[in-house]
Amino acid sequence: MSSYLVTGGAGFIGSHLSEELVRRGHRVRVVDSLVTGKRHNLDHISGVEFIEGDLAEMPVAEKAVAGMDYVLHQAAIPSVPRSVNDPIRSHRANLDATINVLVAARDAKVKRLVFAGSSSEYGNTPTLPKREDMPANPLSPYALQKNAAVVYCQLFTRLYGFETVTIRYFNVFGPRQDPGSPYSGVISLFATALLVGKPPTIYGDGEQTRDFTYVANVVDGVLRACEAPKAAGEIINVATGTRISLNELLKVMNRIVGTNLPAIYSETRAGDVKDSQADITKAKTLLGYTPIVSFEDGLKMTLEWCRSEIATAASR
Ligand code: UD1
Repeated sequence: MSSYLVTGGAGFIGSHLSEELVRRGHRVRVVDSLVTGKRHNLDHISGVEFIEGDLAEMPVAEKAVAGMDYVLHQAAIPSVPRSVNDPIRSHRANLDATINVLVAARDAKVKRLVFAGSSSEYGNTPTLPKREDMPANPLSPYALQKNAAVVYCQLFTRLYGFETVTIRYFNVFGPRQDPGSPYSGVISLFATALLVGKPPTIYGDGEQTRDFTYVANVVDGVLRACEAPKAAGEIINVATGTRISLNELLKVMNRIVGTNLPAIYSETRAGDVKDSQADITKAKTLLGYTPIVSFEDGLKMTLEWCRSEIATAASR
């Protein structure tokens, strides 16, 4: 049994990591500011220690890392448009908090920190799929903050010998992804729209593509990264290695739900990346990672979850 701190553990991806760690018999502590995370995301998991606090405050970071073997640093304000609208708030959550967690974890002699990187760091690369050795080209404050945090992680490994690994996520989706804000991930927004019979909105022409990754796949990648012997100091894409356009995504989701709702098209969002698809060779080599849940199976499970959330809300 090891002890794990999951920062942002009351959020979407963090709660899935916490659940899997508990299932594997580990000790789990969560720290979350509850700005985007929800306390009830952890209700079904027993034995998780919970600290409410803002990691941009150093004492919170110090208290959170004390006695931990591993830190899974997931806490963030995870939205491109939100960072465009409020760059200072997202800088504080995505970067000020990260430097505190890095320093505190290094000083507390944590064995390894795994950081949640983002495919947005690549921006619009001239070629696909995107490989980890391609230069970053951030198109939004969010992408820039994530990239600066990754460079900090690598620097901490080189400079202080503190082991860090960045797992670069590509449009993760699944149950517990909050559809309740215009900044929510597109799959959660499409799912809710289709299930309540409203047309979803597509920003731009819908021909932008994404490597949508079911959350169980990234949980597997992150937990592998804690142990993988050659991963320290590395950035590793964890995704499916495929891509689908938003127009195609909507078709697939309409088919699964049994609807035929057309999209309402609106202006392209500022900071939006055109195409995104991961090269996952490095994850295969360094982590022995391969996606365990297919895109379509993941969509079905996500839609099932949304359906039950809508039914629960209606019965209140
Ligand atoms: C970006 C990152 C991703 C990161 C995430 C955090 C890229 C390629 N990906 O996701 O790694 O984890 O931010 O939030 O930069 N859209 C619609 N209708 C909607 C909502 C969104 O058409 O109702 C469009 C967006 O304009 C975008 C696509 O769907 O083109 C995906 O949007 P979203 O789910 O918000 O994620 P990204 O911004 O791609």
